[in-house]
Amino acid sequence: MRRLFPVTDRTAPAAAPPPEARPEARPSGRSEGRSEAPVNLVDREWTLDELAEAYAYPAPLTTPDAPAPSDAPHRWLRANMVSTLDGAAQHDGRSQAISSDADMRIFGTLRGLADVVIVGAETVRLEGYRPARARDAFAARRAADGQAPAPAIAVVSASLNLDFSLPLFTSPLVPTLVLTGAAASPDRVRDAEKAGARVIVAGDGPGVEPDRAVTALADMGLVRQLTEGGPRLLGQFAAAGVLDELCLTVAPLLTVGSAQRITGGPVLPDPERFALAAVLEEAGFLFTRYRRI
Ligand SMILES: NC(=O)c1ccc[n+]([C@@H]2O[C@H](COP(=O)([O-])OP(=O)(O)OC[C@H]3O[C@@H](n4cnc5c(N)ncnc54)[C@H](OP(=O)(O)O)[C@@H]3O)[C@@H](O)[C@H]2O)c1
Repeated sequence: MRRLFPVTDRTAPAAAPPPEARPEARPSGRSEGRSEAPVNLVDREWTLDELAEAYAYPAPLTTPDAPAPSDAPHRWLRANMVSTLDGAAQHDGRSQAISSDADMRIFGTLRGLADVVIVGAETVRLEGYRPARARDAFAARRAADGQAPAPAIAVVSASLNLDFSLPLFTSPLVPTLVLTGAAASPDRVRDAEKAGARVIVAGDGPGVEPDRAVTALADMGLVRQLTEGGPRLLGQFAAAGVLDELCLTVAPLLTVGSAQRITGGPVLPDPERFALAAVLEEAGFLFTRYRRI
């Protein structure tokens, strides 16, 4: 993996690359550095620790236990999605076919940094979601940041048509959350709670209101938020103006057909504008990171 566009301060004076980062050290040289010098183009495998540094959430975030300066963001919602060159967000109904090993490393890193993973019910149903794992690679970092050993999964559903006998609900490390509207079926709410899930009402009707959902999670101290879609849920976060960052993997593939894009829903009257924060590359896959302006 190599860095094509730095996350570090682009205005910082160019640092001399460490000896092992010189181009002749490829493919095992280091790619650290504050400049856009060739040091950033050195190709090698990044450790999970380095990926965690590169993808760190902005700090400080305000939590109920740790107040931060008043201008600090109260919470941060990032999305992680993968798309083909022609905009497909799935192939044969799933995203696995358009992903890669490096994409999965970044997927795991983003989970390793998050307090909560917010996901639409259809993605849970189609992708067979399981509870998030506690991983040694992130244990010390999470403990130091006062995080649970693994992120909670928060499933967004109006129908609550979910299989509550699955491990996602019955045996997660951290209780799974179910976000729904006030009109949700009381029987299904009871089934969810009986399975061990915590149900959070974040909408007055059948559905969840995106801004209420992210605020409710932040009020529980879950301020480092990650959504893994799917497209219909992500479209609502974007439309509500609560999406702070998009970690978009561009897969070097064409699938043609009529697959969903990474967002779905009614067109926005004014496009949301994002600025590029970083680009990594491996095997032709681009791992982009955009922040809302
Ligand atoms: N390329 C990628 O990175 C990526 C990522 C994730 C998923 N995917 C793919 O995307 C597809 C699934 O995505 P999708 O867009 O069809 O579905 P989705 O966004 O995962 O889930 C839609 C469902 O979420 C619930 N939901 C969404 N908004 C809601 C709201 N405001 N209030 C209450 N419930 C709400 C509803 O569940 P109920 O029906 O239960 O009410 C709705 O049917 C799959 O093929 C998956 O493989 C791709």
